[in-house]
Amino acid sequence: MSETAAVPFVLDTLRPGAKGRILSGMRPTGKLHLGNWVGALHNWVELQESYENFHMVADWHALTTSPEASARTVENTHDMVLDWVAAGIDPAKSPMFVQSHVKEHAELHLLFSMIVTKARLERNPTLKDQVKDLGMEESTISYGHLGYACLQAADILLYRANVVPVGEDQLPHIEITREIARRFNHLYAADAPVFPEPEGRLTKFPRLRGLDGNRMSKSVGNTILLSDSPDEILARVKTAFTDPKKIRKNDPGDPAGCAVFEYHRLFNPDEAPAIDRACRAGELGCVDDKKHLATLMAERLAPIRERRAKLAKDPDFVRDVLATGAKRARAEARATMERVRAAMGMGGGGTDGL
Ligand code: TRP
Repeated sequence: MSETAAVPFVLDTLRPGAKGRILSGMRPTGKLHLGNWVGALHNWVELQESYENFHMVADWHALTTSPEASARTVENTHDMVLDWVAAGIDPAKSPMFVQSHVKEHAELHLLFSMIVTKARLERNPTLKDQVKDLGMEESTISYGHLGYACLQAADILLYRANVVPVGEDQLPHIEITREIARRFNHLYAADAPVFPEPEGRLTKFPRLRGLDGNRMSKSVGNTILLSDSPDEILARVKTAFTDPKKIRKNDPGDPAGCAVFEYHRLFNPDEAPAIDRACRAGELGCVDDKKHLATLMAERLAPIRERRAKLAKDPDFVRDVLATGAKRARAEARATMERVRAAMGMGGGGTDGL
């Protein structure tokens, strides 16, 4: 057995005075859009100051719903990580890495799969919604897809993270993670818990709808990408949904339900009351209003767009960031797995310890 097996494990991420630890994850969907920024990335950047952060590209999770997407994960990861850094994640402070580069995720997932029931995973409302959205028959859900939350629990607990920034749809996965942590500690580590019970941290912004008023999705084309040029932004904003009863410029309009106004409220809060008044009074036409919003969004996103363009010139940049990140992630993952194997009595050092 390795030395660590004998030392009662003090949860280092919960030590008084210790900086809490965050594990955040996103599936590699390629270039990110405004919804990803408002719903997640912005939160990650803010939390960077007060926590120790690990940011993970969940490439195995991407396969749960589309196993055929494996060939696109490398390019999608590249595009997404450029956006992460451009939006303000600092690679010197916060390691960024790819899930499949740290094999311990698979090992911990397997061990957790023994202590979570099939019924518990089937009861996961997020899985149910996903299956419904994809129009799937229940009998076609794969074993891996059913285990989505179990893999996510492994992602989080491998780093003994105590905070996980998520959108509301992910809270059921945090709950399952807490249950798995509790069950593991109870079964194997009652005297010296190996895992903290992490909490989800929601962003303060409401979910942003797409420009057409429907759920935002890149495949529908109803969003603005962080990397879009001012012309692309204008072209996209022009398609936005506005009050259908307001046909001519001087018709009075109703900003409630208007997608353009929703964006003003979020990205342009100081001007929003004046825009609301002018629209209702029939003094502001939708065409002008859209142009105004597009200009403003282009300005707001300029720093991200410009930083991204600069970073993209170095073809090795993302690879280097992810290689450094994986090294740091692996060190943590190995340390946790030693504790896990020791607690389970399977030999503190894995194969080396036999
Ligand atoms: N399930 C998350 C999503 O779809 C992605 C994810 C995978 C994740 N592993 C994670 C998020 C760990 C937070 C922590 O958005």
